[in-house]
Amino acid sequence: MNNIEKAASIIRDGGLVAFPTETVYGLGADASNQDACLKIFKAKGRPSNNPLIVHVASLEGAMSLAEFNADALLLSKFWPGPLSLVLPKKSDAKLADSVSAGLNTIAIRIPANDAALQLLESSGCSIAAPSANKSGMVSSTSDWHVKQNFEDEIFVLESESKCHFGLESTIVDLSTVTPTILRYGFITPEAIEGALNKKVAIASKLSEIKAPGMMYRHYSPKVKLRINASKLQDNEVGLNFADSKLDRKGSLNLSSSGDLSEAAANLFDYLHKLDKFALENDIEAIAVASVPNHSVGLAINDRLTRASEK
Ligand code: TXA
Ligand code: MG
Repeated sequence: MNNIEKAASIIRDGGLVAFPTETVYGLGADASNQDACLKIFKAKGRPSNNPLIVHVASLEGAMSLAEFNADALLLSKFWPGPLSLVLPKKSDAKLADSVSAGLNTIAIRIPANDAALQLLESSGCSIAAPSANKSGMVSSTSDWHVKQNFEDEIFVLESESKCHFGLESTIVDLSTVTPTILRYGFITPEAIEGALNKKVAIASKLSEIKAPGMMYRHYSPKVKLRINASKLQDNEVGLNFADSKLDRKGSLNLSSSGDLSEAAANLFDYLHKLDKFALENDIEAIAVASVPNHSVGLAINDRLTRASEK
């Protein structure tokens, strides 16, 4: 059996597999199997009211689970890709109850990563998968990160297919009158508005209740994180952007050329590395330079802000 077949058989047998997507690693289970999906909540320590994103291999597969309106069809042009759509769940959708956590909608996407697509094809299942990290902790963009979170608890699908983007998918809620961005990602608000040819709303603190996951502490390293830092304080290590100078042994730069896509791809990896460095060297905090707040920078700042809230 090759790696993909082994992972597919674990999924079909009701087990969990960590697998790469083009965004971050997912912690996947057969989305139609309630016991299997409950294992995800248990392994992550995830509150049961936080629904899971369902991954499918084709538009046809997506349409068998969710009601597609005209906007959904327009946005499906981003698939396979880093965009999750929240849509009304079909009444006959083969989905475990825990996946939608009591909501009448589901979040769904087709990932653009060969290993993820092969796993979906080979298992023949829709796969429910949150990011492969313990609840609240930094997301995983390599098998090393997954192992930092779960040690040997979980089978990890090792693959050449990488987490090219490095940040979770953009989530757009199309179950409401006005399309609403619930989570920033690589597909920017401008790109969504361009595809829909209309304005979209951005979830405010209050309406984030719609994406219950957004209410919790997220993406946090074990040591403290201080954002928009212009100078290093004692006992900090730096995470730079462009020509910022938070320089000390161990400091890293998200993108010395100031490229936001490169910075996004490095973000979680560098947070994992700096966290480990800080813990090993008795350093109290990671200080992060400010990152421009436009296009992909919106998603980077969203993750950094949440990670800094303790
Ligand atoms: O890129 C990604 O989206 C990755 C990869 C693995 O696909 N997955 C991911 O899953 O980031 P997770 O669980 O870490 O984040 C999913 C977010 C949560 O905030 C959850 O509350 C929200 O999606 N969500 C899921 N279903 C929803 C629904 N029906 N309505 C609103 N929000 C939903
Ligand atoms: Mg997550």
